[in-house]
Amino acid sequence: MMKIGVLVSGGGTNLQAIIDKVHGKTGEIAVVIANNPDAYGLVRAQKAGIATAVVVEQDCGSPEAFNQKMMAVLKAHDVELVVLAGFMRILTPAFVRAYPNRIVNIHPALIPSFCGEGFYGMHVHQAVYDYGVKVSGPTVHFVSEEADAGPIIAQRTVALDDSDKPEAIQKKVLVLEHELLPWVVEQICLGHVHVDGRRVAIDCK
Ligand code: GRF
Repeated sequence: MMKIGVLVSGGGTNLQAIIDKVHGKTGEIAVVIANNPDAYGLVRAQKAGIATAVVVEQDCGSPEAFNQKMMAVLKAHDVELVVLAGFMRILTPAFVRAYPNRIVNIHPALIPSFCGEGFYGMHVHQAVYDYGVKVSGPTVHFVSEEADAGPIIAQRTVALDDSDKPEAIQKKVLVLEHELLPWVVEQICLGHVHVDGRRVAIDCK
């Protein structure tokens, strides 16, 4: 089974979806790393018997040292696929280059809209609301050196009602995230995902 490392910063509901749907079935989560010791994702991992590590950027002295430390943890667990599941830091070029098309991220909007620097968490859903778009949804993409700009693997859409406030949009999108991210991770583990430049094909039946 492909060994997966999951990076989290917060509640870890996407991590939970991967634990429930992929872990021990099509892939194995070898380690969960949090950049915040209070991340509830750590508790979710521990409850599932998965190894955890906490790597705090401020304790490392520089973004480079922080990234190197996370890479060392991933290497120690023989991780082949890295999943950013609500991980709120941008990885350094050295980290990204170490895992070419082997790092996936979930973004809670339809890339290339509402993405890039500054578009994280509730800021994304607020921007979606302010712009007045009629659909939103999550994007799972490979991570490149530029934020939210790597090849898109899969997207889902949900219709937005005129009465939906940013919190309601977030809830609607999160439901789809919990379906989409585990499905993509599963397809990668099964060897169904093929990358050709920016174009990604999934050859599941
Ligand atoms: C999700 O909306 C994800 O798209 C974004 O951060 C949020 C994390 O939620 N990157 P959780 O920690 O998985 O509950």
